[in-house]
Amino acid sequence: MTNHRIALIPGDGIGAEVLPPARQVLDVLGRRHGFGLTYTSYDWSCERYLRDGAMMPEDGLDLLRDEDAILLGAVGYPGVPDHVSLWGLLIPIRRAFRQYVNLRPVRVFEGVESPVRGARPGAVDFVVVRENVEGEYSEVGGRLNRGFPDEMAVQEAVFTRAGVTRVLDHAFELAARRGGRLTSATKSNGIVHTMPFWDELVAERAARFPRVDWEQEHIDALAAKFVLAPESFDVVVASNLFGDILSDLAAAVAGSIGIAPAANLNPERDFPSMFEPVHGSAPDIAGKGIANPLGAIWSAALMLDHLGHPEAAKEVTDAIAALLAKTEVRTRDLGGTATTAEFTEKLIELL
Ligand code: NAD
Ligand code: IPM
Ligand code: MN
Repeated sequence: MTNHRIALIPGDGIGAEVLPPARQVLDVLGRRHGFGLTYTSYDWSCERYLRDGAMMPEDGLDLLRDEDAILLGAVGYPGVPDHVSLWGLLIPIRRAFRQYVNLRPVRVFEGVESPVRGARPGAVDFVVVRENVEGEYSEVGGRLNRGFPDEMAVQEAVFTRAGVTRVLDHAFELAARRGGRLTSATKSNGIVHTMPFWDELVAERAARFPRVDWEQEHIDALAAKFVLAPESFDVVVASNLFGDILSDLAAAVAGSIGIAPAANLNPERDFPSMFEPVHGSAPDIAGKGIANPLGAIWSAALMLDHLGHPEAAKEVTDAIAALLAKTEVRTRDLGGTATTAEFTEKLIELL
């Protein structure tokens, strides 16, 4: 029997509330499809930071290296500055394991009310491909003259030919497989070095994918179009920061950030990939047992697909679709009153 070793990092806030439902779903599918899942849980979190002075142990990355995949809840909580917690755990994993593609599917499901008029269920079905390890999220820069009137901060965005090309190729290949279109988001009218470079690389790579229609849009206009015409997208590729912002916007268009999943992929499979909901630790609802677990569950489905079980993954997304289309059971973010546990139980009935 195939066995997969999974690292579980619940993290902070609702991260710890949405991972157990994902695990319940995974176990059902493992039993049904005849594969095993062995979990190792890591208590790396802000709580750990406040106790031990570090988000994870010094050899944390080494511990994860031999896992087949990582399932993460959320990182960051009031009491620890966000740049300390995130750069102490989530971002080092993405970088050390060269998870340079962040895949964030977006669907308006039947039975979910989108705040966007005209966002029809079924018609809105696209993927944001976010560059995940360079760009605007860089360590190049510094702070000077702290506390003085001439205090300043400088942060350089870093775009490399290799780094941009590999994520563009992934996005073009995905668009080719989906038989669809690719939209690239930049801001070349205002950002004069990095963004024109990205545009040039898009045009260069596009020549290798003659069957993919592609277009480039300025990020500001594109953000408006996400709201005005979300059904017009298929694969949207963007830099680290732009992809981050677009994916929260897309999640809101799809009805709730609680549903949105993400796959941090290392396409070469030299290292484990990491799967996590798009949302954060949601301190405003943490501890109440009302978080929507679907983002984590859908992320677990993306993990199954990555581990070579596409049919099991589809059973999960089909069950999510059925849950939303055919039942009234919903968590509060979707206008219902169900708890995380009740919502999960209903989903498992439909699996
Ligand atoms: P957030 O995503 O945690 O919350 C934004 C809003 O969405 C809140 O009102 C929250 O209640 C709601 N929400 C989020 N997930 C939900 C779910 N599953 N069900 C129902 N409602 C949900 O974003 P934030 O408030 O900006 O961030 C909180 C903390 O999480 C910060 O420390 C931030 O840095 C961190 N964060 C971590 C990740 C990650 O680990 N990948 C992602 C985003 C934010
Ligand atoms: C996400 C989050 C992270 C990011 C933060 C918490 C560093 O917003 O995964 O979307 O920007 O990558
Ligand atoms: Mn984000």
